[in-house]
Amino acid sequence: MKFVSSLIVSCAAVLLASSSLNAEEVNKVCPISGKPVNPVITTVYEGQTYAFAEDACRAKWVAARESSLYHKLGGKAAIDAAVESFYKKVLADDRIKDFFSDINMTAQRRKQKAFLSAAFGGPTPWTGKDMRKAHENLPGLNETHFNAVAENLQKTLEELKVPKDLIDQVMTIAASTKDDVLNRKPKAK
Ligand code: HEM
Repeated sequence: MKFVSSLIVSCAAVLLASSSLNAEEVNKVCPISGKPVNPVITTVYEGQTYAFAEDACRAKWVAARESSLYHKLGGKAAIDAAVESFYKKVLADDRIKDFFSDINMTAQRRKQKAFLSAAFGGPTPWTGKDMRKAHENLPGLNETHFNAVAENLQKTLEELKVPKDLIDQVMTIAASTKDDVLNRKPKAK
């Protein structure tokens, strides 16, 4: 009996220690229902713990991650590597490099990784500027520049040997930002 109770105390201590270790990192609001989380309903994705209000929320979230373009591309490591390589091309491209001459490229790479990750169905929503706001102060920005950026993105993915069907999905998502990036009215359908 003494053994059992000391075992319970040790287990409780371990649980308390691990929950306090993760406390700052774990979300308080369920990403599916928007309700407060139940701290025992969790999953770990790419080393980060996510908490949910209900088992059903967790199941929905996990299924969305597994079927996402983000996951198929190889997750965080693959997208980070692609963005690094993409901006090397952009900064070497005479058609567009001047747009970035006064830009903090460390911040820009970080933002682009976060934006694309969210757009491809990654675990963290985009909290930066919307694409219209982000590009509204770039004088002279036009379709030729947009197409040059898209071309660099496509070349990057081809060099990384990403399968063609996934590249097509990425390029469709990139194209969906065009009217906003160029500050144009969306074309009537
Ligand atoms: C697929 C199209 C594009 C996407 C997804 C994209 C994405 C982004 C993102 C996520 C940001 C950061 C927004 C923030 O600060 O919260 C940004 C900023 C910026 N983008 Fe783009 N972009 C695209 C096209 C372009 C093009 C065509 C150019 C110019 C050739 C461009 C030049 C810039 C510059 C210079 C900034 C920094 C603006 C500033 O900090 O004031 N982008 N873009």
